[in-house]
Amino acid sequence: MKLVFATNNPNKLKEVQEILPPTIELLSLADINCFDEIEETATTLEGNAKLKANYITEKFGYNCFADDTGLEVQALNGQPGVYSARYASEPVNSENNMHKLLNELEGKNNRNAQFRTSICLNLDGEQFLFDGVCEGEILTSKQGVEGFGYDPLFKPKGYTISFAEMDSSEKNRISHRGLAIQKLIKFLASF
Ligand code: IMP
Repeated sequence: MKLVFATNNPNKLKEVQEILPPTIELLSLADINCFDEIEETATTLEGNAKLKANYITEKFGYNCFADDTGLEVQALNGQPGVYSARYASEPVNSENNMHKLLNELEGKNNRNAQFRTSICLNLDGEQFLFDGVCEGEILTSKQGVEGFGYDPLFKPKGYTISFAEMDSSEKNRISHRGLAIQKLIKFLASF
């Protein structure tokens, strides 16, 4: 089965490719010659995942899934959440986002946080949603160089190392996106 993953993020593609069974041929946006900037204008993770999946299905006619992820920090009332990608001001990048997060949490004892991923799958005219949550806490300084985004600041519950200190297979096993993808795979296998 050919399935488009509506992302331009090579890290996400690599993570997902590692989990999917070989019966599913994963296509990136570049593989289908889609170089459009798909605006994430919804106010929820689910809304953005739907928006991206629908754009591809409607314009290119492929079965497709899209994800949106947010980092929800308890002491910040769930922020940055759906706005995690553009948390800090310009230029938009992970270094600035992490810097802002550390500043916002300075002096706060509660550093509990969770990553949440929402996946929308458009398959043969029907739409299905899957989610995955990974609880943990925000470290007081960056640790590790693997992964991407907020990984150096996120220590999953029950671990002494950050996501950025794990290899990708270990992160995949417990991460928000890994768990959501595992639900997606289970679903596809039963289809
Ligand atoms: P999006 O799902 O690509 O829109 O991601 C939203 C924001 O969360 C971006 O800043 C990403 O870098 C960050 N992000 C998404 N997934 C992860 C992850 O697995 N680890 C760390 N940061 C992530």
